Formats: sequence, structure tokens, C-alpha cells
Amino acid sequence: MNLNNIKKIAVFTSGGDAPGMNAATRAVVRTSIYRGLEVCGILRGYEGMINGDFISLTKDKVGNIIHRGGTVLKTARSDEFRTPEGRAKAFAQLQKHGIDACIAIGGNGTYTGAKYLSEEHDIPMIGIPGTIDNDIYGTDYTIGFDTAINTAIEAVDRIRDTADSHNRLFFIEVMGRHSGYIALHTGIGSGAGNVLMPENQITVKELMDGLESRDRKKLFNLIIVAEGNPNGDAAEIAAQVKKDYKDYDVKVTVIGHLQRGGSPTCHDRVLASRLGYEAVEALLKGQNRVAVGVVNDKINYCPFEDAITKSKKPGSEMIEMAKILAM
Ligand code: F6P
Repeated sequence: MNLNNIKKIAVFTSGGDAPGMNAATRAVVRTSIYRGLEVCGILRGYEGMINGDFISLTKDKVGNIIHRGGTVLKTARSDEFRTPEGRAKAFAQLQKHGIDACIAIGGNGTYTGAKYLSEEHDIPMIGIPGTIDNDIYGTDYTIGFDTAINTAIEAVDRIRDTADSHNRLFFIEVMGRHSGYIALHTGIGSGAGNVLMPENQITVKELMDGLESRDRKKLFNLIIVAEGNPNGDAAEIAAQVKKDYKDYDVKVTVIGHLQRGGSPTCHDRVLASRLGYEAVEALLKGQNRVAVGVVNDKINYCPFEDAITKSKKPGSEMIEMAKILAM
């Protein structure tokens, strides 16, 4: 594909929705129109690409969505697209609709699909990092992370009130299958007693020894647990504590999908607007198979290959700091 011949592009969201995806879609559409490109949306990610669910987008159609959570383009996780046959069907639909290039908003799975489709069928693809998990290499922040952690700390603040009133030990589970970013930021932002996550693996004994050895005995405690904590989720950890430490009044709260919804924060709206704009610019500058991101407040292009294979983890100094501040 000659990148100078790009006249019509498609944008879609894929994988788990994240607050701010709509702001990114709006920015892609309006920048494309400003640059003289035709733009259409694909509904339900790669599933919709295979099924030919394409809609034409105008600047008006993306009005009144910047503040909305979820994704107006809908999203899905597609098993069929993981196969070469599925991707061939998807490409046939792109050709049928005259699409010259695509912008994919999502996480690692979305980038993996975009990379394969682009390599197998020679179609330019640009990625925009949209996931609450913040675990994508090549950008300091992903769209949706800031909203998710603000939702989580609001929930933890409320739990703090009741935990304090009853002198209870709460285990609060937050999202993040493979990554502790949400847990760590929620823990620091809510002043929690400890954070259990893939990057801070401690046993129940170590956790409880830590709580009991403090010179300032706390009458209540809030422990944040990432859903991907290798030593057990919040319910499993709480069950062990109940069995071995009978003096504690233990409770569990799973914040769950509450973290995925809601109106995006200003940080997420600005990030999404910036990345949506830059994704179109990247395409027009001849970039291909890269994800746009922001590193040290500068726009960064990260090859899909790196974004998919390299890992991004919270820094050990942040983890250490969280422990010190919880004394
Ligand atoms: O990747 C985003 C995320 O919200 C993870 O934190 C979580 O593990 C997963 O998606 C949940 O996925 P689903 O909504 O399909 O259950």
C-alpha cells in the first residue's frame, strides 16, 4: 500500500472498553476530516470487521461523546480474528468498503491483531493504547487508567469510613489481570496499608507480620489486592487470614467492573484527544505498524512488535515508597 494514497480510513475499538475511548474516536474522526480523509467506524472491533459492520462517521456523529464512558463503537474479543482465515475475511470487508488504513484503539490483543492483519494483507495500521490496566509498553499512560484509579480511590475512601467505624480489616480487589498498576496507584492514592500484586508478591504471613509489627497499631486496615495477585485474589487471601488470625474482623470488597465505567477524567480526555489526533498524523507521515503513546510528555511511536513483546511494570521505587508511607 502506498501511504500517500490513503483516502479513506477506519477506526475501531477492541478488547476491554476504557473511559476515554470515545474522546479518542472523536479526535481520530475530526482530525481525519480536517486532513481531507473519509472516515468510517467499525462496530464491535475485529468481530465487526469480519461481519462487515461499518458505519460512516462525520464530525457531527462524534459530537456529544467526549464525556461518555464505554465506547460508542462497541467492542468485542474475537476468536475468529485470531486465525489467518478470520483475518482474510476481515481484510475482504476492508477492501469492499474501500478502506486504505485503520486506526485500532485497544490493548495488547488489539495490537497483536493489527500487526498480523497489516503484515498478511499489506494494510497500514496504527494503534492507540486504550485499556484501564496501563500495562502497555511505549506509553507512560494508557487511556482509561486515570479514570479507573480515580473511581477505585473513591470506592476505597468510602470503605475507609466503614472500616474505621468497625475496626475491620478490608481486602479490596481491583482490576489488573497481569499488572499491578491499578492496585499500586489505588493503594498509594487511598493510603492503604499494603498492596498485593504481581510486582509485590508477599505471603499472608508476611502481610500479617507486617501489620502486627508496626509500632503504631492501626485499629483498621485497608489492603488493596490486584485481581492478578499470584498468591490469591482478595477472597482467597481473606479466607487464609480468617483461618489463621481469628482476632480480625475481615471483609472483602471486589470493585470489579465499576472501574471500567463512568465519565472519563480530564486527564483521560486530553490524553485520548492527543493520541487520536497523533494517530492520524502518524498515518499521514507514513508510519505503519506502530502505536502512538506519550513518554515524558512527548509523542512516541512504538513498533507493534515492541509494544506486544516488551513489558511495562510499575517501578520498584514506587512500590518501596508505598510501603514506607503506609507505616
Ligand atoms: O484489560 C482490562 C480489564 O478490565 C482487566 O483489568 C480485567 O482483568 C479484564 O479487562 C476483564 O475483562 P472482561 O470485562 O472481559 O471480564
